[in-house]
Amino acid sequence: MLNEMNSPKANRLAGGDVAVIGVGMTKFGELWNKSLRDIFVEAAMKAIENSGVDHIDSMYVGTMSGGLFVGQEHVGAVMADYLGSVPIPATRVESACASGGAAFRSAFFEVASGYSEIVLAGGVEKMTDGADVTDALATAADQEYEVYHGITFPGLYAMMARAHMHQYKTTREQLAHVAVKNHKNGSLNPNAQFRSQATLEQVMNSTMVADPLRLLDCSPVSDGGAAVILCSLEYAKKLKRPFVKVKASAQASGTIALHSRESLTSLDCVSVAAKKAFKQSNIKPYDINFAEVHDCFTIAEIIVTEDLGFFEKGKGGISVEQGLTSLNGKIPINTSGGLKAKGHPVGATGIAQIIECYEQLTGNAGERQIKNAKLGLAQNMGGSGASCTIHILEAI
Ligand code: COA
Repeated sequence: MLNEMNSPKANRLAGGDVAVIGVGMTKFGELWNKSLRDIFVEAAMKAIENSGVDHIDSMYVGTMSGGLFVGQEHVGAVMADYLGSVPIPATRVESACASGGAAFRSAFFEVASGYSEIVLAGGVEKMTDGADVTDALATAADQEYEVYHGITFPGLYAMMARAHMHQYKTTREQLAHVAVKNHKNGSLNPNAQFRSQATLEQVMNSTMVADPLRLLDCSPVSDGGAAVILCSLEYAKKLKRPFVKVKASAQASGTIALHSRESLTSLDCVSVAAKKAFKQSNIKPYDINFAEVHDCFTIAEIIVTEDLGFFEKGKGGISVEQGLTSLNGKIPINTSGGLKAKGHPVGATGIAQIIECYEQLTGNAGERQIKNAKLGLAQNMGGSGASCTIHILEAI
């Protein structure tokens, strides 16, 4: 089997000198007066304008299920048409909630390989238009062994939370601290779905969804779009606009069903992708200054920050309680508000994470700007950990 990490090609691509030159997104939330295509085009136009490019050579669109949410498939072609970009190649990329991260990675490869000079990577989802969202989302879990028996994503993550609480003595309060922190960060983000703060008591007393996860432990149902422009570093320098370098792009898969895993308290797709990303970029977890991680449920942020190597296994809960992941902490996590408060239009999430990294690294994160942002990491995950992409971005 090809060891992706050690192949000469992977090393060449890792040092592929690819830049993110511009970004754009819609506000996340219930965008009742905008269609799927309106949302994508708004984000894409903002990104194109922000980058200063006069054309794009191709585009990738991450979307989990245009079909189930609004009855629209063939999303790549639809978006190219409404963006006025026909006849450039336009490809829809799907990896459940990691569709945005996978779209970014596809665009990265196209630029790194030298095949194209300027590529748009976007993501979009419209989830609030009446479809049965919980059932639609559950199509990303194992239909035969999980969904058939009635379980959905809140239930799957609740089992992980129970296992983590049992094995590492993670407390219910520590889960709540993730939500409190992310709502606080979201209150500083003009594009966030929820700009309201939440207290520990409010999280602990919110409606039970799947024990021990409550309403305020969950990411919401959202509409939204996000887009970024990638180009070669050389081209970016000529444009004389702020840009950041893509230092690593990694992806890994995990088993689709929880019962096939050795542990319910780790997400192997995250630790494997993280190892690849750190090896490609020749850095260690402690070199990262901040990260956007996939906090679809509060327990996910705790497990992911451990599996990325930011904290020892079992210490993710205490770390958030001690403020180590706050805006002014040792390693700020989800400065954007994360999926929890910024919102989670699933196909757009991975791209929005890249946008937060870009804004922090170029000093444009406004009230939530952290100091000394040199290296940022974006971790996007599909389902209950069956797919994961990780990107490391560097200020130039
Ligand atoms: N966080 C904070 N507030 C939320 C919220 C969330 N996740 N979800 C809903 N709300 C708020 C709404 O804004 C609304 O407030 P209002 O009464 O002031 O207007 C209220 O709670 C009720 O909203 P409603 O839409 O009726 O909630 P719901 O019970 O239908 O849905 C969840 C709540 C948690 C079930 C839903 O958000 C959900 O399924 N989240 C998980 C999504 C998911 O699985 N994503 C994929 C991850 S892998």
